[in-house]
Amino acid sequence: MKETKIYLNWKCNSVDTDKYFEEIFKGIPKDAENITFFVPSIKIFQVMETLKGTSFTVGAQNCIETEGAFTGEISLNMLQDYNIKKCIIGHSERRWIYGEKNSDVNKKVYACLEGGVVPVLCIGERIEERTSNKHKRFVQKQILKALNGLTALQVQQVVFAYEPVWAIGTGLTATPEQAQDMCNFIRSVVKNKFGEDTANKISILYGGSVNPGNIKDIVTMEDIDGVLVGGAGLNPQKVIEMYNICNK
Ligand code: PGA
Repeated sequence: MKETKIYLNWKCNSVDTDKYFEEIFKGIPKDAENITFFVPSIKIFQVMETLKGTSFTVGAQNCIETEGAFTGEISLNMLQDYNIKKCIIGHSERRWIYGEKNSDVNKKVYACLEGGVVPVLCIGERIEERTSNKHKRFVQKQILKALNGLTALQVQQVVFAYEPVWAIGTGLTATPEQAQDMCNFIRSVVKNKFGEDTANKISILYGGSVNPGNIKDIVTMEDIDGVLVGGAGLNPQKVIEMYNICNK
């Protein structure tokens, strides 16, 4: 099986970090590649300390491209200070709860790439776009706006995460075929704009109610290189199960 990226998004949940990683270390070898924990910013330093000497990595859930009078934000410079190499950008909760626009997402993606941080660029339609069959056009627009002004070389660094909003935290998952169809479409949008080589180099994850029961059928799809997991990732036993399924 191809190497599967397992990205875990703790969102805004208080996790007992010591207990969580004690369990994780019992079930997943410390040299396992491709596992990243996207933790609340207040936890980043602690988790980095805990993960020293392992292959696991820590990512941030959001950042802004600038510094100054922006109460409550964390900046790209701060990520660089702590050598944090990945950051979720444009998560649907940022877009739909906090009003982040495609143009904001574009600035963040650009800043991350200029600053040596891999942006995990989240895109995905709501139920209304899906039911009115406008989901592909909608996602295409999100992609092209987010990547506006970037070079093909920069785009090759981006990790795309297709997360249909209607499947996030709802227990509803896109079928593996729906997920594959959209991830294939995402690759074709990148191909049309930035060329085949770039399209073949990007990673595309699926996210939205991924759990040990459905992960296998999702990650075996051709255009899906991994998963972005929310709820199930808060439970170490489920993380171990998902890891084992992907690494059999
Ligand atoms: P979920 O969240 O797995 O709880 O649906 C996924 C995400 O929002 O990244």
